[in-house]
Amino acid sequence: MIKLDERLAAAASFVRTDKRICDVGTDHALLPCFLCEQGAVSVIASDVNENPLNAARANVEKYGFADRITLLQSDGLQNVPPCDDVIIAGMGGELIAQIISGCTFVTPDTRFILQPMTKAELLRRYLYANGFEILREKGAAVNGKAYTVMLVRFTGVKADIDDSFAYFGKCADPRYIQKVNSQLTKLANSDPSLLLIRKELP
Ligand SMILES: C[S@@+](CC[C@H](N)C(=O)[O-])C[C@H]1O[C@@H](n2cnc3c(N)ncnc32)[C@H](O)[C@@H]1O
Repeated sequence: MIKLDERLAAAASFVRTDKRICDVGTDHALLPCFLCEQGAVSVIASDVNENPLNAARANVEKYGFADRITLLQSDGLQNVPPCDDVIIAGMGGELIAQIISGCTFVTPDTRFILQPMTKAELLRRYLYANGFEILREKGAAVNGKAYTVMLVRFTGVKADIDDSFAYFGKCADPRYIQKVNSQLTKLANSDPSLLLIRKELP
C-alpha cells in the first residue's frame, strides 16, 4: 500500500475518486497511484518536464496502474482535456494562479485542490478576484514545515478579501497558524499593520 506524507494525504482526502482527475505537476505520480489504490479509474498525471514524467511512468508501472493513469506532457492545463478534479500541489502560489488562469474547462462542479508551497496569500487573492471560492482548507506538516491544502470551486462571484483572510484563509490548523504568524512578524518590518492580524493559537 502506498504511504503518502501528510501534505499529499491531505490533498488526496479532497479528491472525488469517481470523477475525472488530473494531477498537474505530478512529478513521481505517487498521488495518482494512491488515488487508484483508493478506486480512481481515470487519472491524468501531467508534468511540463520529461524527467518527472519518466519517474511517474516508473511508478505507474511499478504499481500496475497503466490502464487507469494517463501520462501527459503539458505546461499547466494547456494540453489537459476536461477534468472534474484538478490537483495542483507542491508549487508556488503565483504559478498555481497562473495555471488556473489557463483553465478552459471550468464549471461550477469543477474542484481544484491546491497546495501552495509559497505565497498562499497571493493565491487566495487571485482566487476571490476571479470568481473562485475556498470551500475548505486542511493543514498538514512534513519535516516540521506546515502547509495548507485548499478545496476550491468556481462560483463566478468576484470578491475582495481582507489581509487576515488572504494570509490565514480557512485553515484552522495551529501549525499553519503559527507559521503564518511568524511570516507576519517578519513582514511587519516593512508593514507594521500586519502585526495586528496575527492570530491567537487555539
Ligand atoms: C515540487 S514538484 C511537486 C510534485 C507533486 N505535485 C507534489 O506535490 O509532491 C513540482 C512539479 O511541478 C512540475 N511543474 C513545474 N511547472 C509546471 C507547469 N507549468 N506545468 C506542469 N508542471 C509543472 C515540475 O516539473 C515538478 O515535477
